[in-house]
Amino acid sequence: MVTLTVDGPVSQNEICYIHTGGDSLMAEVIKVVGSQVYVQVFESTRGLKVGAEADFTGHMLEVTLGPGMLSKNYDGLQNDLDKMEGVFLKRGQYTYPLDKESVWHFVPLAKVGDKVKASHWLGQVEENHQPLKIMVPFQQQGECTVKSIVAEGDYTIEDIIAILEDAEGNEVKVNMIQKWPVKVAMTNYVEKPRPFRLLETGVRVIDTLDPITEGGTGFIPGPFGTGKTVLQHAISKQAEADIVIIAACGERANEVVEIFTEFPELVDPHTGRKLMERTIIIANTSNMPVAAREASVYTAMTLGEFYRSMGLKVLLMADSTSRWAQALREMSNRMEELPGPDAFPMDLSSIISNFYGRCGYVKLYNGTTGSITFIGTVSPAGGNLKEPVTENTKKVARCFYALEQDRADRKRYPAINPIDSYSKYVEYPEFQEYIAKRIEPTWLDKVNELKTRLQRGKEISEQINILGDDGVPVEYHVTFWKAELIDFVILQQDAFDEIDAVTPLERQEEIMNLVIDICHTEFKFEVFNEVMDYFKRMINIGKQMNYAPFKSEKYYDYKEQMLDLLKERAISESVSKLLK
Ligand SMILES: Nc1ncnc2c1ncn2[C@@H]1O[C@H](COP(=O)(O)OP(=O)(O)OP(=O)(O)O)[C@@H](O)[C@H]1O
Ligand SMILES: [Mg+2]
Repeated sequence: MVTLTVDGPVSQNEICYIHTGGDSLMAEVIKVVGSQVYVQVFESTRGLKVGAEADFTGHMLEVTLGPGMLSKNYDGLQNDLDKMEGVFLKRGQYTYPLDKESVWHFVPLAKVGDKVKASHWLGQVEENHQPLKIMVPFQQQGECTVKSIVAEGDYTIEDIIAILEDAEGNEVKVNMIQKWPVKVAMTNYVEKPRPFRLLETGVRVIDTLDPITEGGTGFIPGPFGTGKTVLQHAISKQAEADIVIIAACGERANEVVEIFTEFPELVDPHTGRKLMERTIIIANTSNMPVAAREASVYTAMTLGEFYRSMGLKVLLMADSTSRWAQALREMSNRMEELPGPDAFPMDLSSIISNFYGRCGYVKLYNGTTGSITFIGTVSPAGGNLKEPVTENTKKVARCFYALEQDRADRKRYPAINPIDSYSKYVEYPEFQEYIAKRIEPTWLDKVNELKTRLQRGKEISEQINILGDDGVPVEYHVTFWKAELIDFVILQQDAFDEIDAVTPLERQEEIMNLVIDICHTEFKFEVFNEVMDYFKRMINIGKQMNYAPFKSEKYYDYKEQMLDLLKERAISESVSKLLK
């Protein structure tokens, strides 16, 4: 933090550049006390001396928005990392986030005489097969009339594509570039109804058990090394979203390098095109300046809001929001503010809820809809879920995917604890109605049954631990192993297997129905040993089935084997039901 004396007015969050030894360091105003201004420098302040001069820009930290952002790698301040010289970011080096030379094929959507307002669509260009809208500047006040608009053709982002006339008769020239301050939420929508459409992630334990919605919020708390990053990457690879924005926030650089090297090779399972074409990465790793880390999640959110205004489905991921909160803590401590719990800022709760509040499913002015779904990870120190970041996130995020050390230790991946985790969306009547239509009316009852069985399985396993295997009736073993079957065949999923990594909804439905039918089947056993051996064979077949391509010969082969196995032990009425 640097204290400056100013000779004119400055505003909270204004950006300034401090000049030192040939470099200009970007900084943000965090407190103004008379002519004393406290600024947080986004760079290393090494070599900065008393007496250095600074220039104020008159605007807040803002991002530049327009075509050309997809598949880019940015840092937290939206510098294009590919334009950087060398491997490491040089201090004081800032690059332009878009390409001024590229040409875009513009198709007008508005016509001369149209009345338009901020964020209304004037035309569209195509980037990586996504139709991107060119909109009326977000800051535009009141209603304007389109005075002229260019014909379909190729233009650069700086070419004027339309001229508007505002209510006072002033001309407004519009090109493809927009600017927006990252800490201000975009509210250019008409309505923000509760989200109700399922966002398919391909991860069974999420889609089947605790589904997230388009425009929904969720978070993944988990102790170190329990699989937060792997799970987030899996979701970002497979989710049925138009745009995926990944904010790597304060995590190790090697994890981000993994995304940089892996994503360009991967194919989007929904469109068959390169995954990177719909992805933007905002990297602010642990070796980058802390202050820019605070900005990086806002940068990511603002990019998301930009695409949402075009009626697209955006999925935003942040790994990890704890590192973001630590950056907030560091700044608050430097300003000598009164600390809250664990030395986090007193207003941590409102900062987190404001951030999550920017997500959502929205209706735009022309009746189309867009959404930002947000999933953040939280790394609670020592796995303590009572620490402030987890607690405050829990208050605002609607889905909770608790990764558990014990499950990770036993290699039951993804290590989401099925009993503690939840999705509040299943309680929304509009979601229930949607699921009834999209999948089937009894789906959520089946999900409840699975959860009850998992809970029962856990209770029995505790009883067996105390009383011993022969201290409980044989039926208890059967109930326990039915829960294990659910665990192994539905909950556990190999993120590193090409087939098993993604389970489309239709396949999740089939596997769930099969498992539920088996759970409803009555079996005959004499002693508990038989139960274990039998169910282990069944689990093995189920797992092989998950590895086989859906509806392939192999898949049906395993299904056949499963039915044969059932016939061995199931009492006859149950089997005849299954064979139907
Ligand atoms: N779904 C999965 N399938 C197979 N292996 C997994 C899965 N999830 C996690 N793992 C294993 O767990 C390891 C640690 O996962 P990951 O790096 O995601 O943990 P993390 O919670 O992000 O850790 P950190 O707190 O250090 O960031 C992985 O390298 C991988 O071996
Ligand atoms: Mg991680």
